[in-house]
Amino acid sequence: MKKIYLTLAVLIGLISTSTAQRNCGAMEHLHHMTQDPQILQIREAIEAHTQQFVSEYNPETGRAVVTIPVVVHVVYNTSAQNVSDAQIQSQLTVLNNDFRKLNADWSSTPSVFQSLVADAEVQFCLAQRDPSGNATTGIIRKSTTVTSFSTNDNVKRAANGGSDAWPASSYLNLWVCNISGGILGYAQFPGGAAATDGVVINYTAFGTTGTAAAPFNKGRTATHEVGHWLNLYHIWGDDGTGCTGTDNVSDTPNQADENYGCPAFPTSSCSNGANGDMFMNYMDYTDDACMFMFTAGQKARMQAMFAVGGARYSLLSSLGCQAPVAAACGAVNSLAAGSITQTSATLSWAAVSGATSYDVQYKQSTSSTWTTTSTTATSLALSGLLAGTTYNYQVRSVCAAGTGNYSASTFTTTSATGTCTNNYESNNSRNSATAIAVNTNINSMLATSTDNDYFKFSNTSTQKNIYVTLSNLPADYDLRLYNSKGSLLATSQASGTTGEGIKYNNAPTVPTMPAYMDTTVPTPLRLVIPSVRLSAALHSEWTVWKCLTTQENFLTM
Ligand code: ARG
Ligand code: ZN
Ligand code: CA
Repeated sequence: MKKIYLTLAVLIGLISTSTAQRNCGAMEHLHHMTQDPQILQIREAIEAHTQQFVSEYNPETGRAVVTIPVVVHVVYNTSAQNVSDAQIQSQLTVLNNDFRKLNADWSSTPSVFQSLVADAEVQFCLAQRDPSGNATTGIIRKSTTVTSFSTNDNVKRAANGGSDAWPASSYLNLWVCNISGGILGYAQFPGGAAATDGVVINYTAFGTTGTAAAPFNKGRTATHEVGHWLNLYHIWGDDGTGCTGTDNVSDTPNQADENYGCPAFPTSSCSNGANGDMFMNYMDYTDDACMFMFTAGQKARMQAMFAVGGARYSLLSSLGCQAPVAAACGAVNSLAAGSITQTSATLSWAAVSGATSYDVQYKQSTSSTWTTTSTTATSLALSGLLAGTTYNYQVRSVCAAGTGNYSASTFTTTSATGTCTNNYESNNSRNSATAIAVNTNINSMLATSTDNDYFKFSNTSTQKNIYVTLSNLPADYDLRLYNSKGSLLATSQASGTTGEGIKYNNAPTVPTMPAYMDTTVPTPLRLVIPSVRLSAALHSEWTVWKCLTTQENFLTM
């Protein structure tokens, strides 16, 4: 329609006379919008920019495909209006087919128009990232008490029972709702308020499944409305039945007014010749099954929106189609070791946001082997540690995106030295044995492997039962029992850190026992020993000074 060009102002005046059988909400909306002189001015600027772009546009050296993030606001009053994810997907599929000329039915275009059919090079994604940068399905479901909406944009405002728009600079807002008055959908042309920008589609004309109802169940209402949203006018020029209106597209035939249903080719008007109206264009009003193409001229108009200075240029840099990168697991902070005893400690740390669990490793500082464990808590109790020993430990967070780096620290178990009240270091010989009480835990400081420590105790009980044990050994210790004359009565020489024990009793009722016993044997054997003094000798193979702490020598009589 190259030769007929009306300024927008004239066009606005004309559209209100349109008496469509189904009125297009988009034009009604445009009429409202351009009542505002400021918006009218913006619209004129957009048109000028578009014309300039189109005059220079070469689709061959053309632009890359534009991908538009879509947020679908399902605003429902009845459960039927709460259209399914599948129905939403079906609509996205139609948009992606129609704007990329991937729709199979484009080939039904009459051959005389086929060379005009264009791949508009626009595609759509359901938003994967919301305006705050969080992951989203791109679908917002909003229950409303509003039973039906009109073209007054209430559906776009939460305060009016609708759902607020996402930033129009980064998303195509698509509202699905019940629209009254037989309107299948409406769009806001470029240049309007961001808060109301987008398209609104009646839930019965949305997608290709579910509530979509024939003859508007092929998803073409959204194709048509997104056409408006990308600045396409109706193909007949919105001048009622006149032949002077224009869609500002050069390769669409002049056409009197809209076509409905499924016209037979050719259908002529405005003396537009043998080929007649291009009623199969998405920007006519024919049934969904009978519209299947945009022209190259329409594509150029739409692409103008994405050129530098274009009204929808900002969408090119939207991150809406990119799923947010899962935040890498943060470092573990506030590492601490508390409740430290000679054999235990509790590690703790501050929770890391997004962490599902924590890997914890610890080892003696002199070791090269980590003990590794995992916990969902923010603390871990360690036991079975060695007294007076420095440990390395490290904690890292585990998130969906992977693990963070280890944060490391150290702690030292309480030194046994601190609780050793007596290191008995003068008791290196039997004659200098240190007297100890029975039924008492004693602590002993042992030196190198050549060290012998002697202890003595009196058995004054009428039942001379002797039971001496060594437990919780940090190294290989042996235990020997002498009588007061220095005769070796018994030896316990378990290997390694196995507990040592001596029961001195040969009572015949007692079953045969090994030369040594461990501390789990509950009942000491009974032995009658005349009032003697005994010494227990600790023989150490330990190479460093160590403090024995718990129950080294527990004497039971
Ligand atoms: N805004 C127009 C209406 O409400 C959309 C027409 C879309 N046509 C179609 N076959 N889906 O009537
Ligand atoms: Zn329309
Ligand atoms: Ca006309």
